[in-house]
Amino acid sequence: MSFRSPGVTDVHYVASLSPGGGEHLLPPRAWYAESDARRLSLNGSWRFRLAGSADAYDDGFAVPGFDAGEWGEVRVPGHWVLQGGGAFGGPVYTNHLYPFPVDPPRVPTENPTGDHLRVFDLPEDWPIGEGGTVLRFDGVESCARVWLNGRELGHFKGSRLAHEFAVGPLLKARGNVLAVRVHQWSSGSYLEDQDQWWLPGIFRDVTLLHRPEGCVGDHFVHASYDHRTGAGTLRVDSESAGRVTVPELGIDLATGTEATVPVEPWTAETPRLYDGVLATAGERVPLRIGFRTVALEDGLIKVNGQPLLFRGVNRHEFHPATGRALDAETMRRDVLLMKQHHINAVRTSHYPPHPAFLDLCDELGLWVVDECDLETHGFVEQAWRDNPVDDDRWTPALLDRAARMVERDKNHPSVVVWSLGNEAGTGRGLTAMAHSIRSRDTSRLIHYEGDPDCHDTDMYSRMYASHAEVERIGRRLDGGPKDRRGLPFILCEYAHAMGNGPGGLTEYRHLFDTYERCQGGFVWEWIDHGLEHPAYGYAYGGDYGEELHDGNFVCDGLLFPDRTPSPGLTEYKKVIEPVRIEGDGRAGTVRVTNLYAFADLSQLAFTWSYEADGVPLATGTLAVPELGPGERAELKLPERPAGADPTAETRWTVRAALAQATPWGERGHEMAWAQLPVSTRVLAPAAVGARPARSGDRVTLGPAVFDARTGALASFGAVALTGLRLDVWRAPTDNDEGAAWQPDLRYGPRWRELGLHRMHHRLDSVESTGDALVVRTRVAPAAREMGLATEYRWTSDGTRLRLTVAVAPEAEWQVPLPRLGIRFGLTDTAPGSRVPVRWFGGGPGEAYPDTAAASAVGLWEADVDDLQTPYVRPQENGARADVRWAEIGGLRIEGDPEFWFTARRWTTEQLDAARHLTDLVPGDTVWVTLDHRQHGIGSQSCGPGPLPQHQLHAEPAEFTFTFSELTD
Ligand code: GAL
Repeated sequence: MSFRSPGVTDVHYVASLSPGGGEHLLPPRAWYAESDARRLSLNGSWRFRLAGSADAYDDGFAVPGFDAGEWGEVRVPGHWVLQGGGAFGGPVYTNHLYPFPVDPPRVPTENPTGDHLRVFDLPEDWPIGEGGTVLRFDGVESCARVWLNGRELGHFKGSRLAHEFAVGPLLKARGNVLAVRVHQWSSGSYLEDQDQWWLPGIFRDVTLLHRPEGCVGDHFVHASYDHRTGAGTLRVDSESAGRVTVPELGIDLATGTEATVPVEPWTAETPRLYDGVLATAGERVPLRIGFRTVALEDGLIKVNGQPLLFRGVNRHEFHPATGRALDAETMRRDVLLMKQHHINAVRTSHYPPHPAFLDLCDELGLWVVDECDLETHGFVEQAWRDNPVDDDRWTPALLDRAARMVERDKNHPSVVVWSLGNEAGTGRGLTAMAHSIRSRDTSRLIHYEGDPDCHDTDMYSRMYASHAEVERIGRRLDGGPKDRRGLPFILCEYAHAMGNGPGGLTEYRHLFDTYERCQGGFVWEWIDHGLEHPAYGYAYGGDYGEELHDGNFVCDGLLFPDRTPSPGLTEYKKVIEPVRIEGDGRAGTVRVTNLYAFADLSQLAFTWSYEADGVPLATGTLAVPELGPGERAELKLPERPAGADPTAETRWTVRAALAQATPWGERGHEMAWAQLPVSTRVLAPAAVGARPARSGDRVTLGPAVFDARTGALASFGAVALTGLRLDVWRAPTDNDEGAAWQPDLRYGPRWRELGLHRMHHRLDSVESTGDALVVRTRVAPAAREMGLATEYRWTSDGTRLRLTVAVAPEAEWQVPLPRLGIRFGLTDTAPGSRVPVRWFGGGPGEAYPDTAAASAVGLWEADVDDLQTPYVRPQENGARADVRWAEIGGLRIEGDPEFWFTARRWTTEQLDAARHLTDLVPGDTVWVTLDHRQHGIGSQSCGPGPLPQHQLHAEPAEFTFTFSELTD
């Protein structure tokens, strides 16, 4: 027997397999930002009521006259969980686990459901009664049911896709009541298991669009380019017949007909758009036409005859306050930041972005891999059983998603590849999607990473493949089906930018340069998804008390949540710079290579400077001939300027910068640089000569005083210094920690297990030997046999103090060391006071062995607080590379060889213990670490660890620091 209780709301659509329905729901069509038809934004403040389940309330709220006086309010576009200060529930972060029992297509009874109400009037001059009107939702997560003036329009799923309803006859001049019920969980949630916050709500625009009689319906702009002839061919297919005009090209043709004229092509480097108009009897729609031809040719992805090299990023839509509700300015900021950092491609991971973002990609120039809103990753937990993409009952929903992406976005020249989705396993549904996309659009290629056989795709795609694997693929030694070996290769995700890192970008770049099959990749990912939080600064998974969560795995971007570039972005910019500058500083020769595929270098100005110990002695401009794409020139630098101190370290720095402002960069914006060493530094004579003198429990050596029993440095002149000793511990980075599923050894956890964070320092001897005070120790963790025999040899010339540390590993070290250096505290710094640092060495930013490409040798200055890199989850950060000398707290430290310099107002142990930046409270000691070496960073939070050459193996080592007191 089955019955429905009286008064129970029918919510069967929520868990039905249907993507949507209702007599007013319209088929998908091309999206455009402007036309001369009227439109009315319904964004703004809406009345809002939250229920704990889908059927908690009946649909009476949709009836005009309903009193919503008791309701709260939310901002549309927006997510209710990010509004109301917690009153409307909270966000949930999981990587791939469904935060509800997996029983597709059914969803939990606890299904947060937000009723939204908005009453609106039409503008006075709205042509009511003429033509029709469409109500458009650009994005609602995850399932909406809609009523207008008491009449049900229908329901839909597909969170990041547009849905339109025909509403014309239902509208009135005043007092229209729009009611939208949004369910957080629906059958669609099974298809939207992307690694991100689960954020329900009407998070993109809601717009009312007047559709005049004879208006433009769906239309498809076909604009190809023949690179052999230089001609572009334009044809606009349109549901309503009309004319297409492009005044600049003298084009005036009927829809459905073709014109071929000479044009300048569109590329991401040269985003040439032609303004046109599509005019039908009732509407004029501006077109922005970019002529380009995408082809799979010779096993390569080509545009306009040229192979592409993707210097890309994966971009989720994210704002730290508003989640996936992005304003126009934020979208523009993203594109500008990408362009300014030489990024030329974006994968819209893992769903079609707000359509306005694609307009910006057209305008400013980015190759776009537009990805469908599809991920079923959670099914991996059950060996992909019941995966919707391999179950025909779900295929209509998959085809609906594919169609809604393609139809909405098909007129963007920037979109060169359609991606079927992400991490959805394999199955017939994906094949059906690929077929339907190909039958609709033959002008673009198809991507999907999850199918290693490349059944349905035009390129072989992998994520997080190691350098070695990419090399094998580049050499076509990767096995796999024969056909796959003939396909181009891309890394749709690589270089996991979680926390400090990613390391190894330079080496990937080298592989892309070497193997033509390797057409680049997309760094994971663009921005940290840290949400603004009153107590934590930025919140990550678990901070909202979620039942299941994946912690700070959601903070893995090249930008911090507030869109400040992280060192990872600076590094990426350097690695992918579009001009290569190389040369021989002593010979005074430079080679400049244009790495663009389409653009010449006419927009760049080149300069040189000649520096002695980091100080420019002379600067000038460098005349570089016009270089076409791929061309190079060998140039001579001027005569070396005179005047350098003969002991100085000298080098040329050659730079390329924007000669004029461009739409994305200011004049002078740095585009490429290189340093060409001329002479190396001459070290000051060793500080030796003074003899250690014992008096009572003290030993004096020049300006230094030591504890006679322990050999510990007690003071150095007027500098208050404490706790100097060998240090091997760093607060593990996310990449040190690695991801739980990583097959290789993850060193972070291993280090901790071995006890490297709690080393014992055993004192073996303190001896005065002639002019040296020698302290021998053994540094080792409890419970283990391995250790580091460590000798500190102190000498002085009466003013300077010299420390040579010799380290010899004992027993078997099965792991690399996190770092190897000394640390000490400067105790004379009141919290809050400025602690300036000057150094000559790598800067201005942070660097580690495999993230040091952007580190330039120079004379740098910064405050200790500004040396910190604010990774959302605190971890090792802030080292400066190749430091010759540094000055801090009245102390000058000179290294032989160069060292890594780090200074912070907390200890490594405090940094290690902190979960959020707000846990880090400055004390009155500045802790300085001078490292002989650091272990590399790698990308093991999701990808491979540091390459062997960047690992710090325990080996005998010796390094020296000379300390002197600074006199003002
Ligand atoms: C990939 C996935 C991304 C993200 C990344 C790790 O497997 O496609 O969405 O989860 O790993 O941050």
